[in-house]
Amino acid sequence: MSDVRPESLKRIETSEQAKAYIENEIKNIRAQVGDKKVLLALSGGVDSSVCAALLIKAIGKNLVCVHVNHGLLRKGEPEQVIKVFKEELGATLIYVDAVDRFLDALKGIDDPETKRKTIGKIFIDVFKEEALKLDDISFLGQGTIYPDILESKGVKAHHNVGGLPEVLGFDLVEPVKFLYKDEVRMVGKELGLPDSMVYRQPFPGPGLGVRCLGAITRDRLEALRESDAILREEFNKSGLSNKVWQYFTIVPDMKSTGIVNNKRTFEWPVIIRAINTKDAVTATVEEIPYEILFKIRDRIINEVKGVNRVLYDISNKPVATIEWE
Ligand code: XMP
Repeated sequence: MSDVRPESLKRIETSEQAKAYIENEIKNIRAQVGDKKVLLALSGGVDSSVCAALLIKAIGKNLVCVHVNHGLLRKGEPEQVIKVFKEELGATLIYVDAVDRFLDALKGIDDPETKRKTIGKIFIDVFKEEALKLDDISFLGQGTIYPDILESKGVKAHHNVGGLPEVLGFDLVEPVKFLYKDEVRMVGKELGLPDSMVYRQPFPGPGLGVRCLGAITRDRLEALRESDAILREEFNKSGLSNKVWQYFTIVPDMKSTGIVNNKRTFEWPVIIRAINTKDAVTATVEEIPYEILFKIRDRIINEVKGVNRVLYDISNKPVATIEWE
């Protein structure tokens, strides 16, 4: 199948157009798949979620979703995937708790590229094992979107489900492959997915793994997850989540001296990153009111174990990348 967006596919800008796209894709999926089964790695990100919702509409129980928890997801994410897909949409969903497997394999690995590759490799191993347990799968669903096809190879090893099709040898079903992100979101909204899923900020495949710098430890990963949850909560409350494209925290593998009740502490800093961009190729730092930064600082210092400083990263891309690893 061609990798060029067909001219007949007009931009999806209205709910009616999204509806028409869905109807047409349902027909296409049914024609391609028939009564065979499709397996899909469902991360809970916008693309895989919209892909799953479309496939559920088209083939119902013949879609088997696998949600792998690699321990590097944000707070509440696995729970949301289960709630939306299993409970609300009635999907066949296999939840794999692979937290220990990933974190054990990542122990002591501090090189960013090796970390990414390790996460990618174990992901494929885990997914493949699940696929082999099911003996009647014929297709692999994938939430590829048009920018994925257009983007040339980046400066970092990108892990989403890269390599899965080759390993499994299934034919691909890619129902949103010619859509841009905003169109994928419109289709997702039309399919009834919650706004928190459809308008979710981008989240890298290796997840918190590239924000828990250096060799990942469980306690530092927890500090990262908790500080990220606080940041997201405060951005939501203040309305900043609608103005800022991507915002998250980072916890480096270094400590600095602090003081509490006249006693010396030696703990991690939390770094805040909040950027705006059109296409993630260049990015600028968002001006956050000090009042909000102070509130976030106080909450992180009071609520997150092992942290004694909060920093704000004011670097643009270039020369810095958006993620720290
Ligand atoms: P960088 O750090 O390269 O990030 O400026 C650009 C955008 O891509 C996201 N990112 C990833 N997304 N898999 C993804 O799907 C990845 O491995 C990955 N690494 C970075 C990053 O969050 C930012 O939005």
